[in-house]
Amino acid sequence: MIKVITYGTYDCLHYGHIRLLQHAKALGDFLIVGITSEDFDVNRGKINVKQSLTDRIAAVKETGIADLIVVEEYQGQKIDDIQRYGVDIFTVGSDWEGHFDYLNEYCQVVYLPRTKGVSSTELRSDEQHIRMGVVGESSSVIEKFLREGGYVNGLEFTGVCTSSISELPDYFKNLDLITNNYDELLANVEAVYIQSSPYERYALIQRALEYNVHVICESPITLAQADYLELLALAESKNLVLMESLKTAYTVAFQRMVVMLKSGLIGRIASVDAAVTSLAKLDGNSVGSLCDWGPQALLAIFKLLGTAYESKSIKTMFYKGDTVDDIGEEKSVKRYKIDSFTKIDFIYPEAVASLRVGKGVKSEGELIISGTKGYIFVPAPWWKTDYFEARFEDPRDNRKFFYQLKGEGIRNMIVQFVRSVSEKRDEGNVLPEITSAITKVIQDFYQGIDVIEICK
Ligand code: CTP
Repeated sequence: MIKVITYGTYDCLHYGHIRLLQHAKALGDFLIVGITSEDFDVNRGKINVKQSLTDRIAAVKETGIADLIVVEEYQGQKIDDIQRYGVDIFTVGSDWEGHFDYLNEYCQVVYLPRTKGVSSTELRSDEQHIRMGVVGESSSVIEKFLREGGYVNGLEFTGVCTSSISELPDYFKNLDLITNNYDELLANVEAVYIQSSPYERYALIQRALEYNVHVICESPITLAQADYLELLALAESKNLVLMESLKTAYTVAFQRMVVMLKSGLIGRIASVDAAVTSLAKLDGNSVGSLCDWGPQALLAIFKLLGTAYESKSIKTMFYKGDTVDDIGEEKSVKRYKIDSFTKIDFIYPEAVASLRVGKGVKSEGELIISGTKGYIFVPAPWWKTDYFEARFEDPRDNRKFFYQLKGEGIRNMIVQFVRSVSEKRDEGNVLPEITSAITKVIQDFYQGIDVIEICK
């Protein structure tokens, strides 16, 4: 029996794929089809695959041509598969001519003619592009978002709404529409990325949803839980996506860590401790450390322990240069005091958690998760990491995990946003329950609930 093997992504299965599979099958008696996993594709730079691995497998299965389907997960797996299954012929389309000659050492390599005029890339780009606008002042956060969004298929940045039109940075200049009129931007886009001050986000989101525009907004989405729940209900009633921009949730290392922990890597979790600090210079217009850094740390705690904590206690130091009276009087929105350092302790039925955030106070920005069998150590800056360690009593059991980090997770987050918008269902990695719990902590903090002020 002659065994043939071939590999591909098989996204949006098309005529070219089916012909290739038929020709491959005709080369022998038994056809093995290797389908790339999501990670493998991301690692080789193919980030725009539209369908999930499960859907791609189902589509290939349905052709009835493959005798066996395997998932391709790592570099070098082709050699392992060829040896494991006793493969006689390796084949792929002629677009890969020469690329797999090294496999001649293990079996015969055949390049089959590629069908002209059809590819997954074309099928994906034929689909409608989402026109996206950006709202906020020029900053490295917006610059990164625009750069990373540029790698994502099915998305095109149309315009920006910013108050500083006179001094535009280069990354705004290519956009077709530059305005300080938000309504004008909303009338020209299907989705909007909101980076503006946390004080303005509620009104900006509300307006966008009224215009039937999907929203991805920096975190925290609002400063009060009721505001978020109201916006969420509005988004749901209009079938619009309202997503919190928390890039950490989309880094492969963080996602992997969460599922490994859920499956018991370090036993039962007893404690989650997260710190995020910077020596940013504070002034009366700054946003405090909990508002700026809290969502990342809260994400780790809520993802791992859930949002049903029994109690919390907040200790905070306010920025000395600030008094509530001398800021924001001329603005119509209420402004809150600025914290330079805040520590929160949560008590859960069977675990505890703590976070430390600082702006103007520096600490080790690490994440430590303690369990009944061992602990996880994620070194600073854990919120944009490609690496973590599982450590145990016996150091010989320690394990290190590395994952590729492209664009701090922002790129993957935007891919997910585009997918949610085109499928009209929000499948982001930050569930509304978590966003809601984050807004509740921020709200309680600003209202002085469970707060002890130190260094008054
Ligand atoms: N293939 C083919 N003819 C086409 C497209 C693909 O013979 N018109 C073959 C490829 O050479 C490969 C297999 O189908 O052997 C799976 O290719 P894949 O990369 O999944 O498909 P593409 O359409 O080329 O995808 P993309 O545009 O994302 O690169």
